[in-house]
Amino acid sequence: MMFETLKKAPADKIFALVAEFKADDRADKVDLGIGVYKDPHGSTPIMSAVKKAEHSVIGAAATKTYVGVTGNRGFCDAVSDLVFADSVPSDRIAAVQAPGGTGSLWVLFQLLKRAKPNATIYLSDPTWPNHKPMCEAVGLKEETYPYFDAETGTVKFDEMLACLDGLGPDDAVLLHGCCHNPTGANLTPEQWDKVAASLKKTGAFAIVDLAYLGFGDGITEDAYGARKLASEVPELMLAFSASKNFGLYRERAGAAIAIGKDADATAIALSNMGNIVRTSYSQPPDHGAEIVRLILTEPTLRAEWETELKEMRERMARLRQKLADAIRERSNASDFDFVAEHRGMFSLLGLTPEQVDHLKVKNALYMIGDSRINIAGIPEDRVGELADAILSAVR
Ligand code: LMR
Repeated sequence: MMFETLKKAPADKIFALVAEFKADDRADKVDLGIGVYKDPHGSTPIMSAVKKAEHSVIGAAATKTYVGVTGNRGFCDAVSDLVFADSVPSDRIAAVQAPGGTGSLWVLFQLLKRAKPNATIYLSDPTWPNHKPMCEAVGLKEETYPYFDAETGTVKFDEMLACLDGLGPDDAVLLHGCCHNPTGANLTPEQWDKVAASLKKTGAFAIVDLAYLGFGDGITEDAYGARKLASEVPELMLAFSASKNFGLYRERAGAAIAIGKDADATAIALSNMGNIVRTSYSQPPDHGAEIVRLILTEPTLRAEWETELKEMRERMARLRQKLADAIRERSNASDFDFVAEHRGMFSLLGLTPEQVDHLKVKNALYMIGDSRINIAGIPEDRVGELADAILSAVR
């Protein structure tokens, strides 16, 4: 007998909330939980560029044979170009396709563990709830760096930088490339410049989690940090996800990217990533990656995708403004103005777990236990009602 010797594993709080929301039969329930984009009707449709690309991919497909351990090479090249543009020479970029952003992080954490078994990885406080368990699963030591000031809803940049300045070459830092999850508070370009200078000085190693490229201020704007680091530091890792910006959640399309100090070091990184992939899951699923490759390399599809992405981004910015305005009008206070300043899919409201629970029980309003809301889940015609509920919970 074996399984009874184990303890039950903790459920992931984001997916546990998905199940709770599903089971709630109140008609007026509102889902501000999991990070999935929603349109004005509350649904998550397939993007039009994706639908067209998918038709072409299926029409053109002649085989289902294996693609290879490192996945779809056209996808890897197109994503590397999308993220880094010309900030780093292509012979210093090693990319493997991986199952989504999480699969990409998994490959990179394993690579870090291989290269620096005693490394300590610093996670932002707070961070996406799966980061810490993943580091633990790989056997990486983790610590946190100061990031979010819940009082003001802004980044505690001086404290963050002071912590980074104290790191050394055996330390790694996990940075959110844009659209910080869960807080919604992001670094400015000037702050990214300072982070790059700090890493250059201390020799600490950066891993960028880039799961929301294009959801903040635009593709170029959101890639600023990644490009700045790539152009300044000798080595870098980046996990890219196409789950949100291409709406491909269940297809698991992502890329694990390592930048080496020269072409030889980069080739070693690539071979190790290939080896990690082969010993983990052999190779990634191709369907979603081939759709992304086609969209990024075919000009008409690319233009259509960029337009759709812009609409999604602008809708989230509008919803942010509406919610902040509605709360300010009702409370005559600027306590929640930060929601309009944040970018991306999330904002951390700074409510207590009791207040979050109260909103769920009394108002059928679902958010993550740390008070993270998914901005895209806000029903546009019920913003006032939402503002009333939030204010009644905090009073
Ligand atoms: C989220 O943070 O809600 C998303 O990234 C979905 C996930 O995998 O947790």
